[in-house]
Amino acid sequence: MNPRLLALGVAIIALPVALVARDAPPALKTPAAFAGIANKDARSVALFREMGKVIQSPRCINCHPRTDRPLQDDDMHPHSPPVARGPYNFGASGMECTTCHGRENVTFANGEGSIPGNRKWRLAPIEMAWEGKSLGEICTQIKDPARNGGKTLDQLIEHNTTDVLVGWGWNPGKGRTPAPGTQAEFGALTRAWVESGAKCPA
Ligand code: HEC
Ligand code: HEC
Repeated sequence: MNPRLLALGVAIIALPVALVARDAPPALKTPAAFAGIANKDARSVALFREMGKVIQSPRCINCHPRTDRPLQDDDMHPHSPPVARGPYNFGASGMECTTCHGRENVTFANGEGSIPGNRKWRLAPIEMAWEGKSLGEICTQIKDPARNGGKTLDQLIEHNTTDVLVGWGWNPGKGRTPAPGTQAEFGALTRAWVESGAKCPA
């Protein structure tokens, strides 16, 4: 076979494989992987640490910042253009999140990258800020109804398993690394964590 044609063939096959490999999310352990930890409190803490791989991923932190400005990309730099939280976590009047963010992700015209979209797109309220906090601090805060939007632990399981904004983390659009695992796995870990006593890392 003509070597140039062969090289072209290899390139055509290798390119999509490389793209898929780049977008493949890192794995998440299932609750069963923690069943061997006999001490219930230690098992609960280990389960939350596994949840932390998702919680502390850029896909979640970028929308749970500690300032009034969202963050962007895997290096979590400040949102460009600058946008403000505004009175309803939905931007300033005239410059609301939905001025640019639609109901779905939209790939840029050049095919490289995308603008995120979701029908619930808005910034997490300041009392739910996770940026710069330790996993233990985030854990304590997530359990606190005064800082988690008044949620019980059962509602937290429900939120992590089914909420569409949480789910966006695994469907973040072209050019972004998805959160580890799947939302179903994250939900199962949350349930196992609650059922083992919802203990927090130190
Ligand atoms: C587009 C912004 C956005 C993204 C992305 C986002 N969140 Fe949130 N998050 C919010 C908003 C807004 C709320 C409050 C409204 C609500 O509870 O639905 C919230 C609330 C929460 C809560 C309940 C309150 C708390 O802090 O305990 C949890 C848990 C949560 N998000 C988890 C996640 C996880 C996990 C991810 C990533 C997989 C994520 N979020 C990504 C905006 C976002
Ligand atoms: C003027 C247009 C504009 C407005 C208004 C705007 N954004 Fe964005 N936002 C963008 C663009 C464009 C991107 C993608 C940039 C890129 O990836 O190159 C983006 C990306 C993001 C990301 C990064 C997601 C990730 O994980 O990388 C978050 C989070 C975000 N916006 C939140 C918000 C929130 C919340 C609001 C409202 C308070 C808002 N944005 C208002 C244009 C805007």
